[in-house]
Amino acid sequence: MRNFLSIRDVTDLKSLVAQALRFKKDPYSERYLGQGKTLGLIFMNPSLRTRLSTQRAAYQLGMEVMVMNMNQDSWQLEFQDGTVMNKGTAEHVREAAAVISQYCDIIGIRTFAELQDREKDYQELILSKFVAYAQVPVISLESATLHPLQSLADIVTLTEHQTSKKPKVVVSWAPHPRALPQAVVNSFLQWARLWDCELLLTHPEGYELSDEFTSGVSVLHDQEKALEGADFVYTKNWSSYQQYGQVLKTDASWMINEKKMSLTNNGRFMHCLPLRRNVVATDRVVDNSLVIPQSKNRLYAAQAVLSEILKNG
Ligand code: CP
Repeated sequence: MRNFLSIRDVTDLKSLVAQALRFKKDPYSERYLGQGKTLGLIFMNPSLRTRLSTQRAAYQLGMEVMVMNMNQDSWQLEFQDGTVMNKGTAEHVREAAAVISQYCDIIGIRTFAELQDREKDYQELILSKFVAYAQVPVISLESATLHPLQSLADIVTLTEHQTSKKPKVVVSWAPHPRALPQAVVNSFLQWARLWDCELLLTHPEGYELSDEFTSGVSVLHDQEKALEGADFVYTKNWSSYQQYGQVLKTDASWMINEKKMSLTNNGRFMHCLPLRRNVVATDRVVDNSLVIPQSKNRLYAAQAVLSEILKNG
């Protein structure tokens, strides 16, 4: 693995999941692998899990870590070529990525969808420019349209908690007061399609995702029908893809509650966090869920990815 930007960079999903689970059993089994190497983490928006789990993962491999909140701690970056930079942006990504590459052996970068211009977000301008001008491997810590480290942790969690060979995994939209990107759900669908499960997507009309991610996935607009017999309920809000970035519905009828969970096959509730309690799901549902084990697995997912990149030289 050279870069880790999406499932497309993974040659063997089963073996990457197995590596994450090996690290969970023995976190310091490769404690010298990253000795003398530095991981640079660049954040363009807030993060709790990604920031801390990736840092800790690097430490467990013997790496040094540097973290920067880009645009707050450093200069405003320009991503367009040929721009006359006489306004807000003070440094071009061409120089910034090249400079950071001289200090770091691997760069992790967290970007976020602006939710204004779909073409721009789905072109992954910021991530792709960093990859183009960095001279070292790049890991996505979530981009405008994908969140592969979260998805790997989710597949590790599903693997640990599955009680049947081919569990039913229902991905359900939930309400949220603010417009959120489609990155987590897009990415989860990409990864879950390669994992052995019966995958079903449920959301209100108007929340259809790009065909690129839903092709071959069954979709139901009746949430309660979808939840029947589910082994896992992966819940996430996303804003509209068709009416890009818009919040079309905020009422509580799609919130996950105990009554809805009772329709499942003792199903386990999952969410990437952060989660707004009693908006996305009730307190009781969250308290009896897999959200904390999921976040723990972010650590081993990041460690498995860093290990594979370090071994690749
Ligand atoms: N799930 C997730 O990526 O959390 P953070 O935004 O806190 O990193």
